[in-house]
Amino acid sequence: MNIAILPGDGIGPEIVAEAVKILDALDEPFEMDTADVGGAAYASQGHPLPEPTLRVAKQADAVLFGAVGDWQYDKLPRPLRPEQAILGLRRELALFANLRPAILYPELADASSLKPEIVAGLDILIIRELTGDIYFGQPRGRRSSPDGAFAGADEAFDTMRYTRPEIERIARVAFEAARTRKAVGHPGKVTSVDKANVLETSQLWREVVEDVHADYTELALDHLYVDNAAMQLVKAPKSFDVVVTGNLFGDILSDEAAMLTGSIGMLPSASLDASSKGLYEPSHGSAPDIAGRGIANPLATILSAAMMLRYTFARSESAGRIEAAVQTVLGRGLRTADLMPRGTQAPALQLVGTAEMGDAVVSALRAQ
Ligand code: IPM
Ligand code: MG
Repeated sequence: MNIAILPGDGIGPEIVAEAVKILDALDEPFEMDTADVGGAAYASQGHPLPEPTLRVAKQADAVLFGAVGDWQYDKLPRPLRPEQAILGLRRELALFANLRPAILYPELADASSLKPEIVAGLDILIIRELTGDIYFGQPRGRRSSPDGAFAGADEAFDTMRYTRPEIERIARVAFEAARTRKAVGHPGKVTSVDKANVLETSQLWREVVEDVHADYTELALDHLYVDNAAMQLVKAPKSFDVVVTGNLFGDILSDEAAMLTGSIGMLPSASLDASSKGLYEPSHGSAPDIAGRGIANPLATILSAAMMLRYTFARSESAGRIEAAVQTVLGRGLRTADLMPRGTQAPALQLVGTAEMGDAVVSALRAQ
């Protein structure tokens, strides 16, 4: 069980340290190799995803990733920006299936910006295709003015592109997930999100998803245009079960879904290849504004480590233990700043920092 630990930038190192604490507390024979990634790797080696880091990631069974990005790197040319590290890892490790659950813990019902009757009990799974679409489309580029300077570019373009096999395999991941969820009481429904009224890629998407559905007739399938899906997510979020969509729409909708749960600081994610290798990271970013202050919420990263145990290492029981420990700690009223309900007096809640939250999860785990 070899894990590549890539903490990255901003709050990345702080939150990853807490997830490592939890893994250590399980007393399993994990081997961990740590490497710089993102801005940290640019600073130490001149590239956001240097060869040694890529090697560590490729050799591992799973990658635990913090976050990348910091203001000081905003002016770098695009190939050297920290974001290129995560895009490069997705491409190089062929991590095409991104699973982003949006679960509202009952203890946090008052942290959501939506009314409790609309969100209470929310448990949906967004599945985002991660290695195709406009993120990786060719051709891409810019047409410069005659002097060739970037500042003088008159036109820029990115190409939205999908192939049948790419759509087929992500559709299959979605139907399989809906089937597994149905076995534990979820409705067994896949909502495919596209823009088939406008885009060619979406028309192909819709056709292929329909074809794959033929193998899963016990599951319901419906289609929504992405603008309507964005609206339904805030209007009736519980009408969803599994959502499957392309890379760009999935990027946007998964942030929206995350916020329904009150804090993006709670949401883990898994990015999987065709076998069981995966990269696990919180759904949130590097939050440079609060980096180094010990106040970031480590729970999304801790829950990402739980997903790693479930999907890569087939240790569902340990994964469940971590999730239960997180719930215990929330039940006791421990809250990082992002989880504190605004404007209310909440004497039962206790404001804690990053390390205290991690320590509390470790004690809850040990007390089980
Ligand atoms: C995400 C992020 C990334 C993306 C960025 C950092 C490139 O927003 O994982 O959702 O757009 O995929
Ligand atoms: Mg995003």
